[in-house]
Amino acid sequence: MSKAAMAIESVHGTWRNRWTFVLAATGSAVGLGNIWKFPYIAGENGGGAFVIFYLLCIALIGIPIMVAEVVLGRHGRHSPINTMRLLAQESELHPSWVIVGWMGALAGFLILTFYSVIAGWSLDYIFKMASGTFSHATSEQAGKEFTELLANPLKLTIWHTIFMVLAVVVIARGVNKGLSKAIRILMPMLFVLLFILFGFSLSTGAFGQAWDFLFAVDFSKLKLGGMLIALGHAFFTLSLGLGAIMAYGAYMPKSASIGRTVLIVAGLDTLVAILAGLIIFSLVFANGLEAAEGPGLMFVTLPLAFGNMVMGQFLGMLFFVLVTFAAWSSAISLLEPIVAWLVESLKIRRMFASILIGALAWFIGLGTVFSFNIWSDMTIWDKTVFDMLDFLTANIMLPLGGVLIAIFAGWKMNENIIKHELKLSRFSFKLWRALVRVVAPVGVVLIFINTMWPDFFPWLFELN
Ligand code: TRP
Repeated sequence: MSKAAMAIESVHGTWRNRWTFVLAATGSAVGLGNIWKFPYIAGENGGGAFVIFYLLCIALIGIPIMVAEVVLGRHGRHSPINTMRLLAQESELHPSWVIVGWMGALAGFLILTFYSVIAGWSLDYIFKMASGTFSHATSEQAGKEFTELLANPLKLTIWHTIFMVLAVVVIARGVNKGLSKAIRILMPMLFVLLFILFGFSLSTGAFGQAWDFLFAVDFSKLKLGGMLIALGHAFFTLSLGLGAIMAYGAYMPKSASIGRTVLIVAGLDTLVAILAGLIIFSLVFANGLEAAEGPGLMFVTLPLAFGNMVMGQFLGMLFFVLVTFAAWSSAISLLEPIVAWLVESLKIRRMFASILIGALAWFIGLGTVFSFNIWSDMTIWDKTVFDMLDFLTANIMLPLGGVLIAIFAGWKMNENIIKHELKLSRFSFKLWRALVRVVAPVGVVLIFINTMWPDFFPWLFELN
């Protein structure tokens, strides 16, 4: 395929301007990963050193790969699968590069199956908060509410169903007509509410302790497994490694500056995660809860805070509405790559493709629903279905996909095309290229080796 034949615009449409891309990509990046997952994995992995290592992964590996994804997407102008195929042809590379697109579509699908279940918890909490369930609750009561929700497969399934329908509706309408309007109002509101909660966390008297927990670096607390989790989460939180950002990049106008745009998205994403962490750990320590609480962390500590706060019933309800919206705008980006591919390749209608994939993801999601109740004892290597899906996608498929994208953009693709898309200064371009060529692949491979064979590096023994 010649350069001239590469499409100018995607058949799925183009974002109205650069800010719509920023909004959509931030909507994708900011989600349950920031507010729910980041605090609890930081808690389980000892805080400080884990957080610093995570920030390093964002800066040195995540941001450069995000740039790569946007470049590939904007140049290819198709679903990630077809983009990879077209770009490989254009640069005269082996057609098997398309596998990156396939693996990504699969990873997005698998993440969606459990993401929807967790987002369902958040839906349930909107009503719990609104009805005053947590007014003056103690930490035991707050914990019990959560445990009871997880023990109820029917309730979990109903919320999971509702959330999946919401995601499918937006994707069926197309991204521009669908969510971008709602998100324009709701994302700023999420920030305002986070700042209100941040103010509240300052008044708990345990803010300093939370700060120390997140930022006092003690590398003896960081285990090798924790490093893989931090790396995987850097991919997860920035929506990297499966082509979601590549798909959104395909709808980006030609004139927008990729480097600056990516820095804004990554900066906002990191800000939300750190704020959520500070808020949640202030409450954890003020209420004598465990930092290593696990997935229930957000669903126990925040209701507790709202229940004991002026206007808490209203603000609490609003908070879970916003978490649901953050999850919603992320979930659609998990669906988009595979739906866009179905539309392009099988020429079926967007509506039909969305319903088909949504229904399948809903069905597989039942495995996650049951992981918390009737199948909670059914484990392989100590992992439930939910744990397995989470581990397989976040810790294996995303880093692997991300590195392949980095190698493709750094070593394989025609350099002039990349320079033309990026328009960076010489220095920034060299820096970016060194990061995607060397730092990202080497970093990911080292962390993989360490996790698979923990005694591989004798000098790291004491870290285990
Ligand atoms: N980034 C989202 C979060 O933090 C999750 C997500 C949405 C995602 N799209 C993705 C993760 C694509 C990986 C790839 O909650």
